[in-house]
Amino acid sequence: MYPTLELDYNKLLDMVSEMGYRLMKSGAEIYRVEESIQRLLQAYGAPRGEVFAIPNCLMVSLTSPDGRPVTQIRRMPTHGTDIYLLEKYNGLCRRLCRETRLSPDSLIYPIFVDETLRGKRPIEALPGQFHYGLDAVCEAVSDCLAAGVTHCILFGLPREKDAVGSSAWAKHGVVQEAIRAIKAKYPDFYVITDVCMCEYTDHGHCGILCGREVDNDKTLEVLAKTALSHVEAGADMVAPSDMMDGRVAAIRAVLDEHGYETTPIMAYSAKYASAFYGPFRAAAGSAPSFGDRKGYQMDPHNRKEALKECALDEAEGADILMVKPALSYLDVIRECSDAFDLPMCAYSVSGEYAMIKAAGAAGLVDEYRIMCESALSVFRAGANMLITYYAKELAQAIQKGDIG
Ligand code: PBG
Repeated sequence: MYPTLELDYNKLLDMVSEMGYRLMKSGAEIYRVEESIQRLLQAYGAPRGEVFAIPNCLMVSLTSPDGRPVTQIRRMPTHGTDIYLLEKYNGLCRRLCRETRLSPDSLIYPIFVDETLRGKRPIEALPGQFHYGLDAVCEAVSDCLAAGVTHCILFGLPREKDAVGSSAWAKHGVVQEAIRAIKAKYPDFYVITDVCMCEYTDHGHCGILCGREVDNDKTLEVLAKTALSHVEAGADMVAPSDMMDGRVAAIRAVLDEHGYETTPIMAYSAKYASAFYGPFRAAAGSAPSFGDRKGYQMDPHNRKEALKECALDEAEGADILMVKPALSYLDVIRECSDAFDLPMCAYSVSGEYAMIKAAGAAGLVDEYRIMCESALSVFRAGANMLITYYAKELAQAIQKGDIG
Protein backbone atom coordinates (compact mmCIF):
# COMPACT_ATOMS: atom_id res chain seq x y z
CA MET A 1 0.00 0.00 0.00
CA TYR A 2 1.49 3.29 -1.07
CA PRO A 3 0.77 6.45 0.86
CA THR A 4 -2.34 8.34 0.14
CA LEU A 5 -0.47 11.52 0.90
CA GLU A 6 1.65 12.94 -1.86
CA LEU A 7 5.05 12.33 -0.30
CA ASP A 8 8.42 13.69 -1.17
CA TYR A 9 10.63 10.75 -0.33
CA ASN A 10 13.75 12.87 -0.18
CA LYS A 11 12.10 15.07 2.44
CA LEU A 12 10.90 12.06 4.35
CA LEU A 13 14.39 10.65 4.26
CA ASP A 14 15.83 13.93 5.56
CA MET A 15 13.37 13.86 8.37
CA VAL A 16 13.91 10.29 9.54
CA SER A 17 17.64 10.38 9.20
CA GLU A 18 17.79 13.63 11.18
CA MET A 19 15.75 11.97 13.90
CA GLY A 20 17.99 8.89 13.82
CA TYR A 21 21.07 11.08 13.98
CA ARG A 22 19.81 12.91 17.05
CA LEU A 23 18.86 9.69 18.78
CA MET A 24 22.23 8.12 18.11
CA LYS A 25 23.99 11.24 19.28
CA SER A 26 22.10 11.10 22.54
CA GLY A 27 23.41 7.57 23.04
CA ALA A 28 20.46 5.46 21.87
CA GLU A 29 21.31 2.00 20.62
CA ILE A 30 20.84 1.24 16.96
CA TYR A 31 17.87 -1.07 17.43
CA ARG A 32 16.04 1.72 19.28
CA VAL A 33 16.89 4.15 16.50
CA GLU A 34 15.60 1.72 13.93
CA GLU A 35 12.37 1.19 15.87
CA SER A 36 11.71 4.94 15.99
CA ILE A 37 12.45 5.38 12.30
CA GLN A 38 10.17 2.52 11.30
CA ARG A 39 7.41 3.90 13.47
CA LEU A 40 7.66 7.31 11.87
CA LEU A 41 7.65 5.80 8.38
CA GLN A 42 4.56 3.81 9.29
CA ALA A 43 2.84 6.95 10.55
CA TYR A 44 3.41 8.49 7.13
CA GLY A 45 2.14 5.35 5.43
CA ALA A 46 5.54 4.74 3.85
CA PRO A 47 7.04 1.27 3.43
CA ARG A 48 9.64 0.10 5.95
CA GLY A 49 13.12 1.47 5.44
CA GLU A 50 16.51 -0.05 6.06
CA VAL A 51 18.60 1.33 8.89
CA PHE A 52 22.23 0.45 9.60
CA ALA A 53 24.93 1.68 11.92
CA ILE A 54 28.18 1.37 10.05
CA PRO A 55 31.36 2.55 11.80
CA ASN A 56 30.91 6.19 12.60
CA CYS A 57 27.86 6.55 10.32
CA LEU A 58 24.13 6.05 10.29
CA MET A 59 22.68 4.84 6.99
CA VAL A 60 18.98 5.05 6.18
CA SER A 61 17.55 3.76 2.94
CA LEU A 62 13.93 4.09 1.72
CA THR A 63 12.19 2.82 -1.38
CA SER A 64 10.16 5.44 -3.20
CA PRO A 65 6.83 4.52 -4.88
CA ASP A 66 8.52 4.23 -8.29
CA GLY A 67 10.92 1.64 -6.82
CA ARG A 68 13.96 3.89 -6.63
CA PRO A 69 16.02 3.49 -3.47
CA VAL A 70 16.77 6.77 -1.76
CA THR A 71 19.64 6.52 0.68
CA GLN A 72 21.29 8.88 3.09
CA ILE A 73 24.44 8.35 5.10
CA ARG A 74 25.08 10.64 8.09
CA ARG A 75 28.43 10.83 9.77
CA MET A 76 28.09 10.56 13.51
CA PRO A 77 30.03 12.91 15.77
CA THR A 78 33.46 11.59 16.71
CA HIS A 79 32.55 11.28 20.36
CA GLY A 80 29.76 9.28 21.88
CA THR A 81 28.81 5.69 22.25
CA ASP A 82 30.38 4.28 19.12
CA ILE A 83 33.90 5.46 19.94
CA TYR A 84 35.36 1.95 19.74
CA LEU A 85 34.11 1.46 16.20
CA LEU A 86 36.02 4.43 14.83
CA GLU A 87 38.78 3.78 12.39
CA LYS A 88 41.17 5.87 14.43
CA TYR A 89 40.60 3.65 17.42
CA ASN A 90 41.97 0.67 15.60
CA GLY A 91 45.48 -0.71 15.88
CA LEU A 92 47.73 0.75 18.54
CA CYS A 93 45.18 3.33 19.58
CA ARG A 94 42.59 0.62 20.18
CA ARG A 95 45.06 -1.14 22.44
CA LEU A 96 45.73 2.12 24.26
CA CYS A 97 42.03 2.40 25.04
CA ARG A 98 41.54 -1.12 26.38
CA GLU A 99 39.67 -1.29 29.65
CA THR A 100 40.89 -4.73 30.69
CA ARG A 101 44.56 -5.53 31.11
CA LEU A 102 46.06 -8.99 31.26
CA SER A 103 49.54 -9.95 32.27
CA PRO A 104 51.38 -13.28 32.41
CA ASP A 105 51.88 -12.40 36.11
CA SER A 106 48.22 -13.08 36.76
CA LEU A 107 48.17 -16.60 35.32
CA ILE A 108 48.52 -19.77 37.38
CA TYR A 109 49.24 -23.13 35.77
CA PRO A 110 47.96 -26.40 37.32
CA ILE A 111 50.58 -29.15 37.55
CA PHE A 112 49.66 -32.77 38.33
CA VAL A 113 52.34 -34.84 40.04
CA ASP A 114 51.97 -38.61 40.20
CA GLU A 115 54.01 -40.43 42.82
CA THR A 116 53.93 -43.70 40.87
CA LEU A 117 55.22 -42.26 37.64
CA ARG A 118 58.63 -41.72 36.09
CA GLY A 119 58.86 -39.11 33.37
CA LYS A 120 55.63 -37.65 32.05
CA ARG A 121 52.46 -39.12 30.62
CA PRO A 122 49.69 -37.40 28.63
CA ILE A 123 46.37 -37.02 30.47
CA GLU A 124 43.73 -38.54 28.25
CA ALA A 125 40.89 -36.49 29.71
CA LEU A 126 42.82 -33.26 29.19
CA PRO A 127 44.48 -33.25 25.77
CA GLY A 128 47.75 -31.29 25.87
CA GLN A 129 48.19 -31.76 29.65
CA PHE A 130 50.49 -34.21 31.44
CA HIS A 131 50.98 -36.14 34.62
CA TYR A 132 54.54 -35.61 35.84
CA GLY A 133 56.64 -37.96 37.92
CA LEU A 134 58.70 -36.44 40.72
CA ASP A 135 61.74 -36.83 38.46
CA ALA A 136 60.05 -34.77 35.72
CA VAL A 137 58.16 -32.08 37.59
CA CYS A 138 60.94 -29.55 36.97
CA GLU A 139 60.31 -29.99 33.25
CA ALA A 140 56.78 -28.68 33.78
CA VAL A 141 58.28 -25.68 35.56
CA SER A 142 60.88 -24.94 32.91
CA ASP A 143 58.13 -25.08 30.23
CA CYS A 144 56.15 -22.55 32.29
CA LEU A 145 59.12 -20.24 32.67
CA ALA A 146 59.94 -20.48 28.96
CA ALA A 147 56.39 -19.34 28.19
CA GLY A 148 56.51 -16.54 30.78
CA VAL A 149 54.38 -18.22 33.46
CA THR A 150 55.77 -17.80 36.98
CA HIS A 151 53.05 -19.33 39.18
CA CYS A 152 51.70 -22.85 39.49
CA ILE A 153 49.19 -24.75 41.59
CA LEU A 154 50.18 -28.31 42.48
CA PHE A 155 47.91 -31.34 42.60
CA GLY A 156 49.14 -34.68 43.89
CA LEU A 157 48.31 -38.26 42.95
CA PRO A 158 49.61 -40.34 45.86
CA ARG A 159 50.83 -43.93 45.69
CA GLU A 160 48.53 -44.88 48.54
CA LYS A 161 45.07 -43.83 49.66
CA ASP A 162 43.21 -44.60 52.87
CA ALA A 163 40.00 -43.63 54.63
CA VAL A 164 41.44 -40.47 56.19
CA GLY A 165 43.80 -39.49 53.38
CA SER A 166 46.92 -39.69 55.52
CA SER A 167 49.31 -39.42 52.57
CA ALA A 168 48.05 -35.84 52.17
CA TRP A 169 50.12 -34.62 55.12
CA ALA A 170 53.00 -37.11 54.92
CA LYS A 171 56.34 -35.38 55.30
CA HIS A 172 57.57 -37.08 52.13
CA GLY A 173 54.21 -37.15 50.35
CA VAL A 174 53.95 -36.50 46.64
CA VAL A 175 53.15 -32.78 46.84
CA GLN A 176 55.70 -32.16 49.59
CA GLU A 177 58.44 -33.83 47.51
CA ALA A 178 57.34 -32.01 44.36
CA ILE A 179 57.66 -28.68 46.18
CA ARG A 180 61.17 -29.59 47.36
CA ALA A 181 62.22 -30.66 43.86
CA ILE A 182 60.89 -27.45 42.31
CA LYS A 183 62.31 -25.14 44.97
CA ALA A 184 65.75 -26.79 44.80
CA LYS A 185 66.00 -25.92 41.11
CA TYR A 186 63.72 -22.88 40.76
CA PRO A 187 63.55 -21.11 44.12
CA ASP A 188 61.80 -18.10 42.58
CA PHE A 189 59.05 -20.04 40.88
CA TYR A 190 55.85 -19.43 42.86
CA VAL A 191 54.28 -22.61 44.17
CA ILE A 192 50.68 -22.72 45.38
CA THR A 193 49.29 -26.02 46.63
CA ASP A 194 45.74 -27.29 46.40
CA VAL A 195 44.73 -28.46 49.86
CA CYS A 196 42.03 -31.10 49.75
CA MET A 197 41.51 -34.70 50.77
CA CYS A 198 39.74 -36.12 47.71
CA GLU A 199 42.90 -37.24 45.93
CA TYR A 200 44.12 -38.99 49.10
CA THR A 201 41.01 -40.70 50.46
CA ASP A 202 40.05 -44.15 49.17
CA HIS A 203 36.40 -43.05 48.98
CA GLY A 204 37.23 -39.88 47.00
CA HIS A 205 35.37 -37.42 49.23
CA CYS A 206 36.99 -34.15 50.23
CA GLY A 207 37.02 -34.97 53.93
CA ILE A 208 36.84 -37.60 56.62
CA LEU A 209 33.65 -39.63 56.60
CA CYS A 210 31.33 -40.32 59.45
CA GLY A 211 29.00 -42.95 58.03
CA ARG A 212 28.23 -41.72 54.53
CA GLU A 213 28.57 -38.04 55.42
CA VAL A 214 31.69 -35.92 55.54
CA ASP A 215 32.50 -34.86 59.09
CA ASN A 216 33.25 -31.17 58.74
CA ASP A 217 35.07 -30.58 62.01
CA LYS A 218 37.21 -33.71 61.94
CA THR A 219 38.27 -32.74 58.43
CA LEU A 220 39.47 -29.30 59.56
CA GLU A 221 42.22 -30.88 61.58
CA VAL A 222 43.64 -32.93 58.70
CA LEU A 223 43.34 -30.01 56.29
CA ALA A 224 45.36 -27.83 58.63
CA LYS A 225 48.00 -30.56 59.03
CA THR A 226 48.17 -30.93 55.26
CA ALA A 227 48.53 -27.20 54.66
CA LEU A 228 51.27 -26.98 57.28
CA SER A 229 53.20 -29.86 55.70
CA HIS A 230 53.07 -28.09 52.31
CA VAL A 231 54.37 -24.86 53.77
CA GLU A 232 57.09 -26.67 55.70
CA ALA A 233 58.19 -28.23 52.42
CA GLY A 234 58.47 -24.75 50.89
CA ALA A 235 55.06 -23.89 49.38
CA ASP A 236 54.55 -20.15 48.90
CA MET A 237 50.78 -20.24 49.30
CA VAL A 238 48.10 -22.77 50.18
CA ALA A 239 44.70 -23.03 48.53
CA PRO A 240 42.06 -25.06 50.37
CA SER A 241 39.54 -26.42 47.84
CA ASP A 242 37.55 -28.72 50.09
CA MET A 243 34.73 -26.29 51.02
CA MET A 244 34.52 -27.34 54.68
CA ASP A 245 33.21 -24.61 56.94
CA GLY A 246 35.91 -23.04 59.07
CA ARG A 247 38.90 -24.40 57.17
CA VAL A 248 40.49 -21.03 56.48
CA ALA A 249 40.50 -20.18 60.18
CA ALA A 250 41.84 -23.62 61.08
CA ILE A 251 44.67 -23.39 58.55
CA ARG A 252 45.49 -19.78 59.48
CA ALA A 253 45.75 -20.72 63.15
CA VAL A 254 48.10 -23.66 62.52
CA LEU A 255 50.31 -21.71 60.13
CA ASP A 256 50.58 -18.78 62.55
CA GLU A 257 51.35 -21.10 65.43
CA HIS A 258 54.30 -22.49 63.48
CA GLY A 259 55.71 -19.12 62.49
CA TYR A 260 54.24 -18.93 58.99
CA GLU A 261 52.22 -15.76 59.59
CA THR A 262 53.17 -14.34 56.23
CA THR A 263 52.16 -17.32 54.11
CA PRO A 264 48.96 -16.36 52.29
CA ILE A 265 45.82 -18.47 51.97
CA MET A 266 43.84 -18.49 48.76
CA ALA A 267 40.37 -19.77 49.58
CA TYR A 268 38.26 -21.60 47.04
CA SER A 269 35.37 -19.55 48.42
CA ALA A 270 32.54 -19.90 45.92
CA LYS A 271 33.10 -23.39 44.61
CA TYR A 272 30.06 -24.80 42.90
CA ALA A 273 29.07 -28.48 42.65
CA SER A 274 29.84 -28.49 38.94
CA ALA A 275 29.85 -30.95 36.06
CA PHE A 276 32.76 -28.95 34.66
CA TYR A 277 35.16 -30.80 37.02
CA GLY A 278 34.65 -34.06 35.13
CA PRO A 279 37.99 -34.29 33.29
CA PHE A 280 39.90 -33.23 36.43
CA ARG A 281 38.44 -36.06 38.47
CA ALA A 282 39.51 -38.53 35.78
CA ALA A 283 42.96 -36.88 35.74
CA ALA A 284 43.39 -36.76 39.51
CA GLY A 285 41.61 -40.04 40.27
CA SER A 286 39.47 -38.13 42.74
CA ALA A 287 35.87 -38.90 41.79
CA PRO A 288 33.80 -39.85 44.83
CA SER A 289 33.18 -43.60 44.92
CA PHE A 290 29.58 -42.98 46.07
CA GLY A 291 27.31 -39.97 46.33
CA ASP A 292 28.38 -36.53 45.19
CA ARG A 293 29.85 -33.30 46.58
CA LYS A 294 26.58 -31.47 47.01
CA GLY A 295 26.89 -31.65 50.79
CA TYR A 296 29.83 -29.23 50.72
CA GLN A 297 29.95 -27.62 47.27
CA MET A 298 27.53 -24.87 46.27
CA ASP A 299 24.29 -25.11 44.33
CA PRO A 300 24.78 -23.49 40.89
CA HIS A 301 21.42 -21.76 41.30
CA ASN A 302 22.78 -19.56 44.06
CA ARG A 303 24.26 -16.12 43.86
CA LYS A 304 23.85 -14.62 47.30
CA GLU A 305 25.32 -17.72 48.87
CA ALA A 306 28.57 -16.94 47.02
CA LEU A 307 28.71 -13.57 48.75
CA LYS A 308 28.12 -15.28 52.07
CA GLU A 309 30.89 -17.83 51.45
CA CYS A 310 33.30 -15.03 50.49
CA ALA A 311 32.38 -13.05 53.60
CA LEU A 312 33.05 -16.06 55.83
CA ASP A 313 36.44 -16.71 54.23
CA GLU A 314 37.38 -13.06 54.50
CA ALA A 315 36.43 -13.02 58.17
CA GLU A 316 38.47 -16.18 58.76
CA GLY A 317 41.56 -14.54 57.31
CA ALA A 318 41.67 -15.50 53.62
CA ASP A 319 44.07 -13.38 51.58
CA ILE A 320 42.62 -14.19 48.16
CA LEU A 321 39.07 -15.29 47.31
CA MET A 322 38.16 -17.57 44.45
CA VAL A 323 35.19 -18.30 42.25
CA LYS A 324 35.13 -21.67 40.48
CA PRO A 325 34.31 -22.59 37.71
CA ALA A 326 34.85 -19.40 35.73
CA LEU A 327 32.95 -19.15 32.44
CA SER A 328 29.49 -20.10 33.64
CA TYR A 329 29.94 -17.98 36.76
CA LEU A 330 31.09 -14.63 35.36
CA ASP A 331 28.20 -12.92 37.14
CA VAL A 332 29.41 -14.33 40.45
CA ILE A 333 32.97 -13.16 39.75
CA ARG A 334 31.67 -9.66 39.03
CA GLU A 335 29.54 -9.53 42.12
CA CYS A 336 32.13 -10.93 44.49
CA SER A 337 34.90 -8.74 43.13
CA ASP A 338 32.67 -5.67 43.52
CA ALA A 339 31.70 -6.62 47.04
CA PHE A 340 35.14 -7.52 48.48
CA ASP A 341 38.43 -5.70 48.58
CA LEU A 342 40.49 -8.89 48.54
CA PRO A 343 42.15 -10.00 45.31
CA MET A 344 39.87 -12.29 43.33
CA CYS A 345 40.97 -15.47 41.63
CA ALA A 346 38.93 -17.44 39.11
CA TYR A 347 39.52 -21.07 38.17
CA SER A 348 38.84 -21.93 34.57
CA VAL A 349 38.35 -25.62 35.24
CA SER A 350 39.08 -28.81 33.36
CA GLY A 351 35.69 -29.03 31.61
CA GLU A 352 36.02 -25.51 30.24
CA TYR A 353 39.44 -26.33 28.84
CA ALA A 354 38.32 -29.70 27.46
CA MET A 355 35.34 -28.16 25.66
CA ILE A 356 37.44 -25.56 23.88
CA LYS A 357 40.06 -28.18 23.02
CA ALA A 358 37.49 -30.59 21.64
CA ALA A 359 35.59 -27.99 19.64
CA GLY A 360 38.89 -26.67 18.27
CA ALA A 361 40.11 -30.13 17.35
CA ALA A 362 36.81 -30.83 15.56
CA GLY A 363 37.31 -27.69 13.49
CA LEU A 364 34.15 -26.14 14.90
CA VAL A 365 35.76 -23.08 16.44
CA ASP A 366 39.06 -21.22 16.32
CA GLU A 367 40.70 -22.63 19.48
CA TYR A 368 43.25 -19.84 19.85
CA ARG A 369 40.76 -17.00 19.60
CA ILE A 370 38.20 -18.72 21.83
CA MET A 371 40.92 -19.35 24.41
CA CYS A 372 41.88 -15.66 24.33
CA GLU A 373 38.33 -14.33 24.44
CA SER A 374 37.27 -16.68 27.25
CA ALA A 375 40.24 -15.76 29.42
CA LEU A 376 39.85 -12.05 28.95
CA SER A 377 36.14 -12.24 29.76
CA VAL A 378 37.08 -13.57 33.19
CA PHE A 379 39.33 -10.58 33.82
CA ARG A 380 36.68 -8.20 32.43
CA ALA A 381 34.26 -9.75 34.95
CA GLY A 382 36.58 -8.59 37.73
CA ALA A 383 39.07 -11.39 38.39
CA ASN A 384 42.63 -10.34 39.20
CA MET A 385 44.15 -13.74 38.50
CA LEU A 386 43.23 -16.91 36.67
CA ILE A 387 44.08 -20.56 37.16
CA THR A 388 43.99 -22.12 33.71
CA TYR A 389 45.31 -25.10 31.76
CA TYR A 390 45.94 -22.60 28.96
CA ALA A 391 48.28 -20.47 31.10
CA LYS A 392 51.33 -20.99 28.87
CA GLU A 393 49.50 -20.32 25.61
CA LEU A 394 47.80 -17.28 27.14
CA ALA A 395 51.08 -15.85 28.41
CA GLN A 396 52.38 -16.07 24.86
CA ALA A 397 49.23 -14.49 23.43
CA ILE A 398 49.66 -11.59 25.87
CA GLN A 399 53.31 -11.19 24.94
CA LYS A 400 52.38 -11.15 21.24
CA GLY A 401 49.82 -8.43 21.98
CA ASP A 402 46.82 -10.46 20.81
CA ILE A 403 45.21 -9.80 24.19
CA GLY A 404 46.05 -7.68 27.21
C1 PBG B 1 39.73 -30.89 44.64
C2 PBG B 1 39.63 -30.09 43.41
C3 PBG B 1 38.81 -30.27 42.29
C4 PBG B 1 39.20 -29.30 41.35
C5 PBG B 1 40.20 -28.56 41.94
N1 PBG B 1 40.44 -29.03 43.21
C6 PBG B 1 37.81 -31.30 41.98
C7 PBG B 1 36.54 -31.36 42.71
O1 PBG B 1 36.20 -30.55 43.55
O2 PBG B 1 35.84 -32.35 42.42
C8 PBG B 1 38.65 -29.14 39.97
C9 PBG B 1 39.58 -28.55 39.00
C10 PBG B 1 39.22 -28.72 37.57
O3 PBG B 1 38.16 -29.26 37.20
O4 PBG B 1 40.02 -28.28 36.75
N2 PBG B 1 38.65 -30.88 45.48
